[in-house]
Amino acid sequence: MKVLLIGSGGREHALAWKLAQSPLLTALYAAPGNPGIAEEATLVDLNTEDNGAVLAFCRKEAIDFVVVGPEAPLVAGLANTLRDGGIAVFGPSAAAAQLEGSKGFTKDICAKYNIPTGAYQRFTSAEPAKAYIREQGAPIVIKADGLAAGKGVTVAMTLDEALEAVDSCFSGTFGAAGAEVVVEAYLDGEEASFFCLCDGTSALTLASAQDHKRVGEGDTGPNTGGMGAYSPAPVMTPEMVERTMREIIEPTIAGMADSGHPFTGVLFAGLMITAKGPELIEYNVRFGDPECQVLMMRLKSDLLPLLYAAATGTLASITADWSDEAALTVVMASKGYPGTYEKNTTIVRLPQEDKATKVFHAGTALQDRQLVATGGRVLNVTATGRTVSAARDAAYTALDQVEWDNGFCRRDIGWQAIAREKA
Ligand code: AMP
Ligand code: GLY
Repeated sequence: MKVLLIGSGGREHALAWKLAQSPLLTALYAAPGNPGIAEEATLVDLNTEDNGAVLAFCRKEAIDFVVVGPEAPLVAGLANTLRDGGIAVFGPSAAAAQLEGSKGFTKDICAKYNIPTGAYQRFTSAEPAKAYIREQGAPIVIKADGLAAGKGVTVAMTLDEALEAVDSCFSGTFGAAGAEVVVEAYLDGEEASFFCLCDGTSALTLASAQDHKRVGEGDTGPNTGGMGAYSPAPVMTPEMVERTMREIIEPTIAGMADSGHPFTGVLFAGLMITAKGPELIEYNVRFGDPECQVLMMRLKSDLLPLLYAAATGTLASITADWSDEAALTVVMASKGYPGTYEKNTTIVRLPQEDKATKVFHAGTALQDRQLVATGGRVLNVTATGRTVSAARDAAYTALDQVEWDNGFCRRDIGWQAIAREKA
């Protein structure tokens, strides 16, 4: 099978690494890619924002299957263009990608199909939103409706903070994404990321993970795309997984099919495990980054037939086999991230890899054969181990071999699971 992978982050490096191990693969191409992905795939110079250009490339190279990593091309309809052009594609249509593209859309699906989530209201102007917030009181959560690169959510602990967040959304801080605002009840509990594959009618449970969204140790400071992750998440016990499938995922799949927009691809549920059980915080329509990196380290099955089954409506006949080991990844980011940071700083040395240790590239580039950092999140140093503590130790041992003056990381990735392991 000839495969084209779309994307250029650590998530896509992990997907490329795993796809490249498939005996079914005859050629792997990637666009735009990065130096890590280039070790597994042939990089192609393709404008991935131009759906027609991607289709033309697939026809020219007789690509059998396209795997889309990030959400933006999905929301922009890349999967529609490819599917209409007769190319199999892993990823939802633009309409089904609204599960990530519009928080209000997802909340309405939850309300219609009785899916547990925080009580909410949608607003298109500030005054009614503020009146609702005053009525509800703090803590309360304010969300820009559209895609805001993970920055559109304010968990307001005070009324003033909440009112300010409403003004900020409607004054254009998040551009068009903030033209509508969702105000949502604050949910208390432990968060988990939960992943399953969907083929429009059925769902296959993959695995759970926990992300570390804040930039600073002890979960302090501003939100980021994720500073590290581990899998599995101990809070996702077999009972919680079963409840999540039955109460959240299956009604969503049925609801999307019912509304004429069957969901295919990977459904990534951001969950809050509350005293009442799992509640949905948000959906994403692609793998998490860096959660994908730890999932791929634990997946024993061939990834390619799994993704292809999701794309072609044949998931019911397939299973996924997972390692019992834990995997943990630590993100190394450019100093200053998630604010401004210097670009093109030199990465002098990467760690030695072995069967249990892998460095995935995110924002890197080669300049005159020298590896440099070009993004905010740059390297994902990943390891497996018998426990989360063991995976953590192996990941930080590898990370300490990295020579990159402008890099930093959190030293406490995995703290919640490690506290449980110690207890
Ligand atoms: P989201 O972009 O919707 O995942 O939100 C970003 C982060 O805000 C989540 O990972 C949670 O930590 C937090 N958050 C979002 N919604 C809620 C909620 N209803 N209650 C508590 N925390 C929330
Ligand atoms: N790490 C969170 C995300 O990919 O959305």
